[in-house]
Amino acid sequence: MFDTTHAHITTWVIALILFLVALGLHNAGNKKAMKIVHMILRLFYLLIILTGALLFWKHQSLDPAFYGIKTLVGLWVIAMFEMILVRLNKEKNTTVFWIQLVIAILAVVYLGLRLPLGWHPFA
Ligand code: HEM
Repeated sequence: MFDTTHAHITTWVIALILFLVALGLHNAGNKKAMKIVHMILRLFYLLIILTGALLFWKHQSLDPAFYGIKTLVGLWVIAMFEMILVRLNKEKNTTVFWIQLVIAILAVVYLGLRLPLGWHPFA
């Protein structure tokens, strides 16, 4: 949990899948099931933050600024998941949040892979 990124990756991959399932349920008009999946997704937000924070506390001294930016961009992804689902429920426009989500996901994966633990495809 502190020295490998496996738990962290598991939590955000499951969150991404839950987000897509919630979108599919919304498109299918199944509000009740979407609400349940959205609640489970919120639990996974906490698990992403917990696993990310554990890695952060243990390793941020290697490069505090880089780790700080990684954390902020990770939180930005979670905020966009939440904004999109809440606004879809209220039948509000989500275009701006979709654009931000794509940028934030690309940025967080790039930053995560550039940091010292785990995979290094860009090193
Ligand atoms: C949905 C949101 C997030 C995504 C998609 C994401 C993605 C990633 C990826 C791809 C890695 C690299 C894994 C590897 O190389 O094995 C990583 C590592 C990491 N993430 Fe996240 N992350 C997210 C949220 C967060 C949050 C909220 C935090 C802080 C609270 C955080 C802190 C970290 C830390 C500290 C590392 C380890 C970096 C290292 O030392 O190599 N992440 N994340």
